[in-house]
Amino acid sequence: MDDDVCGVLLEPIQGEGGVYVPPADYLAKVKELCTKHDSLLIYDEVQTGFCRTGKWFAWMISGVKPDILTMAKAIGGGVPMGAFAVDEKLAHVFAPGDHGTTFGGNCLACAASYAAISTMRAEGLDKVAAKTGAYFKQGLQEIAKAFPDKVKEVRGEGLILGMEMTKPAGSLVKTAQDRGCIINCTAGNVLRFVPPLIITEADIAKLLVVLKEIIKDF
Ligand SMILES: Cc1ncc(COP(=O)(O)O)c(C=O)c1O
Repeated sequence: MDDDVCGVLLEPIQGEGGVYVPPADYLAKVKELCTKHDSLLIYDEVQTGFCRTGKWFAWMISGVKPDILTMAKAIGGGVPMGAFAVDEKLAHVFAPGDHGTTFGGNCLACAASYAAISTMRAEGLDKVAAKTGAYFKQGLQEIAKAFPDKVKEVRGEGLILGMEMTKPAGSLVKTAQDRGCIINCTAGNVLRFVPPLIITEADIAKLLVVLKEIIKDF
C-alpha cells in the first residue's frame, strides 16, 4: 500500500470466498491505511447488504464507514437491480446522466426496490436475521462439536453462515438436495447458508436434522 493506490475494494464479510469474517479491528486498520495514502475505501455489499448480516449493512457491525458502497441482490427483492452510493465528499464527482446504462434508473426495478426496502424496514428484517441467524449458528456449532473430525469451523454473522468441512464437500449439495434442502458449497469445502431473510426457526430446525444426518455419513 502506498500513494499509488487510489482505492481498496473489499467485502466486509467474504461470501463466495468461503464466508470469512475479518478480525474485529481489520476494517478500522484498512481505513487507517486508506486515510494515510488518500485512497478510497470501497465496500462490495452485493451479498452482505440489506439485513443479511443482522445489520442493514455488514460495515455497521464494525462501524467503519466506506467512501463508496456497492449493492445488488436483495435491494430489488428478486427484481434485477444494482446500485452504488458514495459519501458526501464524493457526491460532486457525478451528475445525473454521467453514469448512464441502458437499464440504469429503471422505473420498474426502482419501484420493486422501494417496496422491498420498505418491507424490510416495516418488518425489521435486520433484527429478524440477527435472531434467526443466532439460532441457526448455534445449531451448526452443535453439529460441529458432534463431528470435530468432519467440521473444521462455523463462522458468519446473521443469515450468512459458513461451515468449513475438513475435506472437499461439494457432494453434500446433492445429498442435501435429495433430502429436500437446498444448500451451497463455496471454496471447495465450505457449506454456505444464505437463506431468505424470512426463513423460520422451524425450517432451520428441519435443515439441521438433515445436515446432522448427512454429515454423520460424510
Ligand atoms: C460479493 C459479490 N459482489 C458482486 C457480485 C456480482 O454482482 P452482480 O451480478 O450484481 O454484478 C456477487 C455475486 O454473487 C457477489 O456475491
